[in-house]
Amino acid sequence: MSVHKEIKRVTTHVLAEMKLRGEKISMLTSYDYSMAKLVDQAGIDVILVGDSAANVMAGHETTLPITLDQMIYHGKSVVKAVTRCLVVVDMPFGTYQGNSLEALNSAIKIMKITHADAVKLEGGSEVIESVQRILSAGIPVMGHLGLMPQSINRYGTYVVRAKEADEADKLMKDAKLLEEAGCFAIVLEKIPASLGARVAKELKIPIIGIGAGGSVDGQVLVIHDMLGLTQEFSPRFLRRYANLASEIKGAVGNYIDDVKSGDFPNEKEQYD
Ligand code: KIV
Repeated sequence: MSVHKEIKRVTTHVLAEMKLRGEKISMLTSYDYSMAKLVDQAGIDVILVGDSAANVMAGHETTLPITLDQMIYHGKSVVKAVTRCLVVVDMPFGTYQGNSLEALNSAIKIMKITHADAVKLEGGSEVIESVQRILSAGIPVMGHLGLMPQSINRYGTYVVRAKEADEADKLMKDAKLLEEAGCFAIVLEKIPASLGARVAKELKIPIIGIGAGGSVDGQVLVIHDMLGLTQEFSPRFLRRYANLASEIKGAVGNYIDDVKSGDFPNEKEQYD
């Protein structure tokens, strides 16, 4: 039975309980105040202020160019809008990989200025020192394994990850490492459903999938994709729940026609 509507404030503890009782966790990205307000009011469990903002908000080809200050700007706007869901802010590329002290300082800056609930970062053993140091400051960390878009230049392609046994083994080891370090959840992106199921079964913390099958503990999508605002991106894992691109183009087209014809504004839409 779903009890998610009765929860006044979603915490990392609430997410752990949801996994225990088999209630799926819903997560979507948002990057601005108006969208986050609607998403929170609709009853989402977690908003991820994803570094996918680099793609859908700024038009970059990859997530790499977004800066810490830009992520903080998006995070702050989202936190202002929500009253119920947990807010997680992505740590951008270059702010946590090389040096755990720099990682800690980046995470502290995110938490101090945005007032978000947690941070997310990509990677396993390579970033475990950063994860441990951030956790030691009392900042909840969500991991991210499988397809890690910040490593696109190493992969060279956005194809499904961990199909081969050695990569799947490494992913499983990394997931356990992140759990042992104290991460409260892990995102698994674009991996075989059987591997997603195995990780969710073997780990106690919630596993949130995006293209990781239906047997994980929750799902996340980029809001622009699921609302049909992005048109060119159609991976197999994406379900579109609206076609806002055509709604918006239709409304803007009608507005243009009304302005050109002089129909807008009418007498009631102006002042005496
Ligand atoms: O940045 C993002 O939107 C993400 C999701 C794809 C999980 O990391």
